Amino acid sequence: MDAHDIRSSFLQFQRDRGHAQITRASLTPKHDPSTLFTGSGMQALLPYLLGQEHPDGHRLVDSQPCLRAQDIENVGDNRHTTFFEMLGNWSLGDYFKEQQIRWFFEFLVDVVGLDPARISVTCFIGDAEHGIPRDDEAASIWQRVFAEKGIEAGIASIGSQADGDARGVREGERIFFYDSTENWWSRGGDLFTTPLGDPCGPDSEVFYDFGPDHHDPAFGLAHPASDSGKFMEIGNQVFMQYRRELDGSFTPLEQRNVDFGGGLERIAAASLGTPDVYRISLLAPIVETLERLSGTSYADDPHSLRIIADHLRGAVFLASDGVRPSNKEQGYVMRRLLRRAIRTAYGIGLRDSFFGAVVDQIAGLYEDAFPELADRRDEILEVLLREEASFRRTLQAGLKALRGFEGRTLTGADVFLLSDTHGFPRELSVEEAERLGIAVDADWELEYDSALQAQRERSRGSSRLQVAEPS
Ligand code: SER
Repeated sequence: MDAHDIRSSFLQFQRDRGHAQITRASLTPKHDPSTLFTGSGMQALLPYLLGQEHPDGHRLVDSQPCLRAQDIENVGDNRHTTFFEMLGNWSLGDYFKEQQIRWFFEFLVDVVGLDPARISVTCFIGDAEHGIPRDDEAASIWQRVFAEKGIEAGIASIGSQADGDARGVREGERIFFYDSTENWWSRGGDLFTTPLGDPCGPDSEVFYDFGPDHHDPAFGLAHPASDSGKFMEIGNQVFMQYRRELDGSFTPLEQRNVDFGGGLERIAAASLGTPDVYRISLLAPIVETLERLSGTSYADDPHSLRIIADHLRGAVFLASDGVRPSNKEQGYVMRRLLRRAIRTAYGIGLRDSFFGAVVDQIAGLYEDAFPELADRRDEILEVLLREEASFRRTLQAGLKALRGFEGRTLTGADVFLLSDTHGFPRELSVEEAERLGIAVDADWELEYDSALQAQRERSRGSSRLQVAEPS
């Protein structure tokens, strides 16, 4: 199944089970000052998880576009993207653990066709201090559904991620108990960082095992919660049944809810049998277009091509949502995405304007699910081209200044000056200097950092978000 089929099958699967398909929320929440972007499907459903009646009933489904700006720096590996789609279903005081676990497992195995032997799951180990029990109920449901596929699922109490890195997985283990840093969900993350008044609860996450060839030993031994590459999380079922109170305690909600979210891109990657989400049908064509335009093959420089593909896709969705590049809030993130994409493109020899082809490609890939991209194609392209033109002027001014260093050694202080006065990105100064045959001081980074630090100290007190150097 490709990503497109997985999205439509999921929505159909849940509609068949009595879920109303709700209109997805905007990528940039209009009435929630606490967050810049929609980062999960439940965000727009907070009042209903806390008990307000939803006009569409107690069972809801959608595929929610999300953006996680905190992942910008991680983009470049095979699994992180800033923009992604989250398949979601919710029970608002209706079904609970048994139904949710059964249905998601059935969807993955019988609809998408994943091998159940490659699926592992995690459950909450409990928290005595807050009186929250270990989720043995979820674990025994999992044992039953695996048994129905002829798989005996052993249970391991791993506790923390560090324990797992040292201990790894033992023969027959498939269900893992972790603490609240892994198996607790709220908008704030951990049990202790749950925002006051927010709904929250233990969760049970589902992982796909790509096999030992994908394990990076730098992360210790492989286990579901590690980032070693062998296991990838493809879905999270939150049993939202508590609310965080002022005194730090958790009181049970009147209704027990399910909040399920699964990354479409990741489920599609598991379905293809590759841990590289950039190979899926929503991203591979963008990468191929970039390969063709730049003459750089994915095999030679996956990191750069992933950054450009991800960042442009995110920027296209933001532009379609009405965001414009600027120096603050959502616009700042959009500017960072675009400038990082352009700078990375520059690094692989993509120096002429290439946005037109990529925007058309993205609009085409999302023709069915997001027809607004094609409808707003000209407007989106204009926004992107304007930012591109302005950043190119910056780049050209920086390059001109850089040529003034010919015959000398470029120091960290010079690199800082180029960035500070021309907005010329530091990595680009160094890359371009090398290309022009200008020597670069071996300690340039140290010197750059101390110049930056000195400047920060001079301007302490001004904490406004600035675009001194989009990275
Ligand atoms: N809220 C949970 C998540 O974002 C599940 O939807 O992972």
